[in-house]
Amino acid sequence: MSTLLVISGSPARSSRTAPLAGHLARRLSLSGFDVEHLDLRGLPPDALLEADTAHPEVRRALDAVAAADGVVVATPVYKASYTGLLKAFLDLLPQDGLAGKTVLPLATGGTIAHLLSIDYALRPVLSALAARHVVGGVFLLDRTIVARGADAVELSPETEQRLLEAVDAFVDALPTSPVLAAA
Ligand SMILES: Cc1cc2nc3c(=O)[nH]c(=O)nc-3n(C[C@H](O)[C@H](O)[C@H](O)COP(=O)(O)O)c2cc1C
Repeated sequence: MSTLLVISGSPARSSRTAPLAGHLARRLSLSGFDVEHLDLRGLPPDALLEADTAHPEVRRALDAVAAADGVVVATPVYKASYTGLLKAFLDLLPQDGLAGKTVLPLATGGTIAHLLSIDYALRPVLSALAARHVVGGVFLLDRTIVARGADAVELSPETEQRLLEAVDAFVDALPTSPVLAAA
């Protein structure tokens, strides 16, 4: 069975991206995958900023990336790019930290003017980390997402549909589907 990791990179206390990532993790888990949600906001800030990869919580997070076959990288758009929190974490990965993994980039933003931030900002970083199977990213407008708890969201029908399509493409690109693994 493929092991999946959903990373959320929002530093906000009341984030939309984090519950969206939690929702996605729960949905993938119900489909039979072994899934973990890594909310970067929960990592110790000092260890992150000091690049302390020996800190047990940071180590655990890096090990979770290493163990995953598929990684969803979810971030809000901040200042026309992905967040500093996400960058601080990605900087701790080894240079080939995403090699052999299927990656789905996901961004939430306030304006479609920054729809392409996945392609001009996030995708090059994922490529630099040796990700070779980066499926089509999905950009979702913040006003179409309502948080309903830590891992629950209410989505507009269009956002729901776009998320479904992106997740289907991600699952199709994984090396092992849960159904095949169970057979
Ligand atoms: C500091 C900051 C900068 C932002 N910059 C942008 C931006 O450049 N472009 C954009 O489309 N949205 C921008 N937004 C809106 C957020 O991307 C959007 O509301 C997102 O869904 C917030 O996710 P979060 O609640 O998980 O942090 C910004 C929000 C904040 C707080």
